[in-house]
Formats: sequence, structure tokens, C-alpha cells
Amino acid sequence: MTTATEESYLQSIFAERIGGARFGKDTTIYKFEKIKRAKRAAMAANPGVELIDMGVGEPDEMAYPAVVTSLTMEAAKPENRGYADNGIQEFKDAAARYMDRMFGVKGLDPVTEINHAIGAKPALAMMPLAFINPGDILAQTVPGYPVCATHTRYVGGEVLNLPLTDKNGFMPDLASIPEEKRSRMKMLYINYPNNPTGAQATPQFYDRVVRFAMDNKVVVIQDAAYAGLVNSGKPYSFLSVDGAKDVGVEIHSLSKSHNMTGWRLAFVAGSRLVVNAFATIKDNCDSGQFIAVQKAGITAMDDLNIPKWINEKYGRRLKLLVEALNSAGFSAKIPAGTFYLYVKAPKGVEGGAQFASGEDFSQWMIKEKLISCVPWDDAGAFVRFSVTFSAKGTDDEKRVMGEIGRRLGSAKFVF
Ligand SMILES: Cc1ncc(COP(=O)(O)O)c(C=O)c1O
Repeated sequence: MTTATEESYLQSIFAERIGGARFGKDTTIYKFEKIKRAKRAAMAANPGVELIDMGVGEPDEMAYPAVVTSLTMEAAKPENRGYADNGIQEFKDAAARYMDRMFGVKGLDPVTEINHAIGAKPALAMMPLAFINPGDILAQTVPGYPVCATHTRYVGGEVLNLPLTDKNGFMPDLASIPEEKRSRMKMLYINYPNNPTGAQATPQFYDRVVRFAMDNKVVVIQDAAYAGLVNSGKPYSFLSVDGAKDVGVEIHSLSKSHNMTGWRLAFVAGSRLVVNAFATIKDNCDSGQFIAVQKAGITAMDDLNIPKWINEKYGRRLKLLVEALNSAGFSAKIPAGTFYLYVKAPKGVEGGAQFASGEDFSQWMIKEKLISCVPWDDAGAFVRFSVTFSAKGTDDEKRVMGEIGRRLGSAKFVF
């Protein structure tokens, strides 16, 4: 047995990918932990004051009743009890129908061009296993969802960050990638509608992506976790541009567009070769989502009113938030998609606090205003407000927004 002062030999055998012998000893406090701590301290210092949480990227409501009923009924059927492996065909058929009815993507073969996943996150974690050898490059947009990049590093690959700035409409400048990187690049990870910027890709951008992928022999992973949530124009898929199916896949999730984060249900669609490689890796990582959840997912995907209603709610809240922030001096605009509002952080408050980063501003917001938002400092100083805050009905939404306006109204921000 090890004594209190003696270290377990286990500490010395951790893999380098998680820090080796230093694993667990890093004392750096990361972004989300900092936010959590600041929220706790602010609530303790201001008992009885409501903390308005606009940090979480997760719907505030349950899945729709028909979906819950479907799960309850299917969970009671003995034939649904077993391993689901790479998923039931009915789910893949429903995913193909959904891609057609929701996004106008015709002709996806539900046998070979679609596979379910236990959420987009594990799908993104598995993709590098199918393509990355040591030294290969994954290019990803930043700020963004880092899971594909983390797993690329885990398997010895390199990550190239492509900054999203307001100057380029929050789309990466593919032409700026140097030849030396292109020759080692195997994967391009993009995410539209984009978390956190709220930008939506244009068909022209997707055309450039397809051409870039073909010219450089790169696989495209388009993360469509927010595809059902658009505020301008129609929901739009990467797979609707010519050639997309020859260069990659799109990953769809029911988490955000169908209020089903905890259910863990997504699918990968597109290139038959990529879907097959993904299914092979996945088959060696998990045994599939519970069939009853997949069947409830079919109910969810077959009702296009669900994403429509959910999107209407976020659209309404985004409009109120834009008004509240702009009356406090921000220059916020309704985003093209997602439930996020990504805004430049102020440099400070007249005669008061100065903010060197989005993080400084977000910490101040929590401490002084009891409003939580998430900082993003990868490409300029920004913060992200999420309109998934808890509110019951439209009157309560207005009350929360009025409260934000009131709390911010007293500060004169300098930009
Ligand atoms: C861009 C992006 N991709 C994927 C995910 C994860 O989705 P899922 O719940 O399907 O794992 C998230 C969740 O926040 C996200 O923001």
C-alpha cells in the first residue's frame, strides 16, 4: 500500500497524451471551471439575487411529449433490449427522410451513406482514428468545438487552427494555408451554423471547401450540430453542394434542434467510404445507442415542427437580447444560426474596470452583474451569450431580458 506521502506507481505510467507522469497535477484553472467558481462566489456574495445564466449551450426544455411517449413505449418492448451495434435500419431511413425534407438533400443511401452515433461528440472523437497517422494534420476553425482536434493530438497528429474573424464573415481563409501544411493535411473540421460565432456557411464557401478538399486530398468533417437552428434563410446542408459526398460527411445531432442533449443521438451522413470507416471504428468503441432511443429519434426527426418551434423560441429570445445589449452600447446582430450571440467584449467601463480579454469581461459580468456568459479569446476578445437560459414562457423571457437591460444600463462600456 502507498502511504500519504508516497506516490502510487500508477502516477508514473499515464500516457503522454494526457500529460504522462504530470497528469492531474496541472494547477491551471480552465475556462469553464473559472466560470463555475465565479458563479458560486457571486451567488454567495449576493444571496437572493437571480444569477442569469447565459453560459450553458444546452436547451432549457425537455424533448417534445410525442418523443418522450415514443421512448416510454419502445423501452417496454423486449425486442428493443439488446445491443444496437451500428444502429437500426429504420433510424437510418428516418435520417435520410429528414435530410431530404429538412434540408432538401436528395438521394442519400440510408444503407451505406448514413450511420447513427451516440451523439456528435463521440462521432467527432472517433473520426481522427479513421484518418490520422502520426504527423498528419487536422485543420480546425477557432474559436470552436475542440473534440476532433483533441483526438487528433491523442493519436499523434498535428492541429492547425484557422481563425474565424468578423472580417472574413467567420469563415476560414483556406487559401492562406501554406503548401507545407497542405501536403500533410488529411482532415478539415468545420462547423456551420457555427458555435460560437453564430455564422452560417454560404453555398459559395461550401463550393470552395469541396474544391480545396479535392485539390489537397483532404476529408471534410462538417459538424452540423446546429443545422436545424437558423434565423435567416432555410436550413442548409453541406451535402446539398455538388461534390460534397465525394469529399466528406456531415454530422447531425438531435441534441440542440430537438431538445435531446441527454438522449445522445446523432448521425453521420455523406461519403460511403467515410461512413464505412466511421462505422468500423465505432463498432470497436461502442455497441450502439439503445434501440428505444433510436425509435424515439425517428418520431423526433419525422416531425419537422419540432425544430421549427424550438427555433422560433430562440429567435424571439435572440431578438430581445440583441435589443438589450445594443441599448447598453454593444453592436450585436441576430446571428444567422444557433442559439448563441457572439459579441466583441468591451475594453472597459468608463471610469471603472478595464478588460484585457473576453475572459476579464466575463468574470466582471458574473461578479458585478450576476450575468454569466462564456469568453472566447482565440481570435479577438469576444463573449458568447446563449439564449438557452431558464425562462417559462414569453412573459418570463421578457422579464429576464428586462433584468439584463437594467443591470447593464448602469454601466457605460468603452469599446
Ligand atoms: C459544435 C458542436 N458540435 C457538437 C456538439 C456535441 O453534440 P452532441 O450533443 O450531439 O454530442 C456540440 C455541443 O455543444 C457543439 O457545440
